[in-house]
Amino acid sequence: MKNYLIELIEKLFKYHSLELNEYEFLIENRNHEATKLLKKYANDLKREFYGNKIFIRGLIEFSNFCKNDCLYCGLRKSNLNCERYRLNKNEILKCADEGYKLGFRTFVLQSGEDNYFTDEILCEIVSALKLNYSDCAVTLSIGERSFKSYKILREAGADRYLLRHETADKNHYEKLHPVEMSFNNRLECLRNLRKLNYQVGCGFMVGSPFQSNKNLAQDLKFIEEFKPEMCGIGPFIPHKDTPFKNFMAGTVELTCYLLSIIRIIHPKILLPATTALGTVDPVGREKGILSGANVVMPNLSPVNVRKKYELYDNKICTGDESAQCIKCLSGRMQNIGHEIITDRGDFKN
Ligand code: 5AD
Ligand code: FES
Repeated sequence: MKNYLIELIEKLFKYHSLELNEYEFLIENRNHEATKLLKKYANDLKREFYGNKIFIRGLIEFSNFCKNDCLYCGLRKSNLNCERYRLNKNEILKCADEGYKLGFRTFVLQSGEDNYFTDEILCEIVSALKLNYSDCAVTLSIGERSFKSYKILREAGADRYLLRHETADKNHYEKLHPVEMSFNNRLECLRNLRKLNYQVGCGFMVGSPFQSNKNLAQDLKFIEEFKPEMCGIGPFIPHKDTPFKNFMAGTVELTCYLLSIIRIIHPKILLPATTALGTVDPVGREKGILSGANVVMPNLSPVNVRKKYELYDNKICTGDESAQCIKCLSGRMQNIGHEIITDRGDFKN
């Protein structure tokens, strides 16, 4: 049994692929020894392709309006306690300007699914960013849209798109979302983004309600097959104004274990140590980096709106100026032998 676990890890390291039931076994029977070995392989691979370099992405949370009602998310439309805001084009450009001076070369525009932001308005923002900062990448993280919309935004200059698949199991998906939301459409969106030549990021929450180890194995198999350029995973954290308020948060331990596995599946993948990881543990992001992550995404949003973009309770970094955030993170990364660099940090094949 114990040796079988180690055999599986050797197999994963050799072939970057396992069967669904093997992934499940790896999760179900994890122990200290397995964790250590996965971490070692993950770090060897990360070092081979990226050295000790960490990429930074400047996150601009430009609207917390959302037409959806995901059961886990604090921005869900049914949450009347959420104080809604939108940034206009000038406010967004101002965040980017500050970010550029701080060394950011990727801007991530993130929002709820907000109908106010039509293709036309978004294209104007994306074009302006690309015009002002021709050496920067623009990443969108604005949810499910039509093929046509993704196409227009791509033509306006958007380089990358983050759309977490949330779970690769249709049944589980339906337990996390209201009936209006469709698992098939989620996957269709990811395929469309791929067709349009975006660098695509998927991802999921660790420890979300009703998640089984089989579900996590399905997530790993999905990542293996879809081959995303990026993958965002972080622990589920309950939000007090959602139907999931009484569920337990996911753990740092399992999140880090999965980060190591994902690094081994796709050695060159861009893998963030997420804010959620830093929220459940004061050194969660450091633990994520040491498990195989190679990206951090400090917040560039104006301080006066940060508390309002509350996906989950107790989100960190909501009081700091952008400059403080990056200084804090640089120090943290240095403490664990890593170095933040000024670079677009594209996926390289
Ligand atoms: N806990 C952790 N992550 C969450 N997200 C949304 N709500 C929560 C929560 N309560 C994640 C989702 C979404 C991303 C923007 O944030 O995976 O895709
Ligand atoms: Fe906004 Fe889920 S609540 S996308």
